[in-house]
Amino acid sequence: MRWLLSLLTHKLRSSRSKVLPSDQPLSTLLHLVKVGYLAMEIADKLSYKNKDINKLFFEIIISKPETLILHRKSVISAASHMLEWCEKGSDLPEKISLYQAENNVIRAMYDVHFDHKNDLLPERVNNRVSLKHKYQDIWLVYRDVLAAATGNKLMLIEAHEVERFKNGVVLSEGRIEERSDVSVVRNEARKCFEARHFSKTVVMSFLLVLSEAMTNVYKHAGHGKVMIVEQDEAIHFIVEDSGKGIPLEQLPKAALLSGYSTQNSMGQGFTLMLKIASCVYLHTSEKGSIFVLTFALSDRTKGDHEITDISLNEELEKQLDEII
Ligand SMILES: Nc1ncnc2c1ncn2[C@@H]1O[C@H](COP(=O)(O)OP(=O)(O)O)[C@@H](O)[C@H]1O
Ligand SMILES: [Mg+2]
Repeated sequence: MRWLLSLLTHKLRSSRSKVLPSDQPLSTLLHLVKVGYLAMEIADKLSYKNKDINKLFFEIIISKPETLILHRKSVISAASHMLEWCEKGSDLPEKISLYQAENNVIRAMYDVHFDHKNDLLPERVNNRVSLKHKYQDIWLVYRDVLAAATGNKLMLIEAHEVERFKNGVVLSEGRIEERSDVSVVRNEARKCFEARHFSKTVVMSFLLVLSEAMTNVYKHAGHGKVMIVEQDEAIHFIVEDSGKGIPLEQLPKAALLSGYSTQNSMGQGFTLMLKIASCVYLHTSEKGSIFVLTFALSDRTKGDHEITDISLNEELEKQLDEII
């Protein structure tokens, strides 16, 4: 507000004749003062006499704000336009270049913009666009950091990248609406793995991971669907939901911190998924989450060793009991 202080201390020092109107709401008054100040600055660039510059200010602050934009005095109208453009976040030099007025007024507008682009006429970046850019920048950094921290096991992906995992033989599909659906889908999946002669340990580790992803849907998102796809030498579990997603700021902890949970829960789901699956692809936004859990069939003996590695807590033991 340096411009306002300078206005009140210097510009009004000599003026004793008029009194500021007091019946206007503060926001209207502030608007009038801003237009008045800009008009004085433009008039100053046009070499108006001091007396006329002060008159201009008082004429503006006793006016109705809506009359200023098309005011017959070009200085007032120009000032009013400049403030409006600034408040809408427009590109001021571009607007001035397209503005219809005498050449000397246009030049004065450019000069006033130059003098006040850091106080009264700041460049306003469109908020929604800048937030979106900020989100994208953070997302890109998190994508690289999560991949690096997990040895490329956890990969954040865009929604459209999920499609490529769906091209293959669909082994099983199911919906998760309530808790009991988790075991229904799991039993279907078990039959399908056994029919393909996967070893018992491999089936057990597949089902454990599938369980964790489906339980997360049930616990954190409400409902969703599951698709199991065989593709070349891999099996993909695609677990989709339309919940609130994992907020970006919680993602590192949710994914990497064993025991972290936003519910009163064990916080072991991510740890298990990352330990057992060959790769976890994740797309999450405020529209929901998609987990793609991939098992490279060449890794199938690795599962035997890793699963015994996990220190089992009570919840996991219960789950394993259910599965076996
Ligand atoms: N499908 C999902 N939708 C929304 N948030 C999720 C989802 N899956 C996981 N999360 C978030 O990630 C956190 C960690 O998940 P997880 O390791 O499975 O632990 P837990 O399920 O025990 O809380 C959860 O507490 C939750 O905040
Ligand atoms: Mg969980």
